Amino acid sequence: MLFWLIYNDFMLILGIETSCDETAAAVVEVKKGRFLSRANTVLSQINIHKKYGGVVPEIAARKHVKNIIPVIDQTLKRARVSPKNIDRIAVTTGPGLMTSLLVGSQTAKTLAFAWNKKIVPVNHLKAHLYANFLHNKKVIFPVVALIVSGGHTELILMRNATSFKKIGQTIDDAAGEAFDKVAQLIGLSYPGGPALAKLALGGDATAFAFPRPMLDADNFDFSFSGLKTAVRYAVEKSPRLTSPLKKNLAASFQQASVDVLVAKTVRAATVYKAKMLMLAGGVAANVLLRDTVTREAKKIKRPLLIPDFIFCTDNAAMIAVAGYFEKPVDWDKIIVDPNLEI
Ligand SMILES: Nc1ncnc2c1ncn2[C@@H]1O[C@H](COP(=O)(O)OP(=O)(O)OP(=O)(O)O)[C@@H](O)[C@H]1O
Ligand SMILES: [Mg+2]
Repeated sequence: MLFWLIYNDFMLILGIETSCDETAAAVVEVKKGRFLSRANTVLSQINIHKKYGGVVPEIAARKHVKNIIPVIDQTLKRARVSPKNIDRIAVTTGPGLMTSLLVGSQTAKTLAFAWNKKIVPVNHLKAHLYANFLHNKKVIFPVVALIVSGGHTELILMRNATSFKKIGQTIDDAAGEAFDKVAQLIGLSYPGGPALAKLALGGDATAFAFPRPMLDADNFDFSFSGLKTAVRYAVEKSPRLTSPLKKNLAASFQQASVDVLVAKTVRAATVYKAKMLMLAGGVAANVLLRDTVTREAKKIKRPLLIPDFIFCTDNAAMIAVAGYFEKPVDWDKIIVDPNLEI
């Protein structure tokens, strides 16, 4: 019986993600508890929203409506999987933009009904953490995980693969949001995080002594709005935003953000006696953050998981992995919640 169970542990999961401005689908194969992304399609709308300086919800939803079926169709073809072989459909039900979430969830419900499949509602934030399961490295619990994305900055304690306890969060802006707003202040276009990181490469991270908000606070919360305001004052004080000045502002801001993120994560790992650290979310693609947390995790002798670059920002492979751990429901039980918490 045990032999049968082990060798029948095979599943193909179709993941669907439309919480913000990426229309994404993926097929993930689960075999003996290991996860393999067979196809992962992300159709970004960045170029459309760029001119507005941020995501316009109505436009995002309309683009999802136009693109979701071709994206799913192309993903199944690239994975060489026919709908009849899909075991379950996993879909993001929150948090995110209401109208964007509705497109993915209605599509998933329709497919589940038409194809007679099980459907699994997925919390987008938990899914960011599950991106780390695509490495197929052993996850050792308890884990202290830092989610750093466009909308969230949270420290999570995971005692097992389905236990999530929030131990800290930002009290104002998310780290990604701060990166994007500071990038805008120094004249970079939306979403500025990656561009700011690139600019920072040529700058002096000690040029501006920006604050490290809440670094010494006796909790695991974060704050980024004061740091962002400090950059704004520095910009306003400067008569001209020269190229070297922009580089120094970018490098100093990035260093201040990374210092706080890493210090608090490492401290939480020690306090909660974590056996492993994890990083997740779009800002986890930041090279300074990746390098710094790697170095500090080594110092406290804890293994660390960071998703591959493509699985840091929004994608549907992470949604499919999360779909393995969540309970399937009937298609009519799928309800979206824009404010869903971890
Ligand atoms: N190299 C980088 N350095 C800094 N920030 C980055 C980098 N790459 C991406 N980001 C930031 O990551 C964010 C996008 O991440 P993600 O897609 O996880 O966010 P989101 O899905 O919009 O938010 P959430 O997951 O909280 O709903 C943006 O703020 C972007 O600027
Ligand atoms: Mg996200």
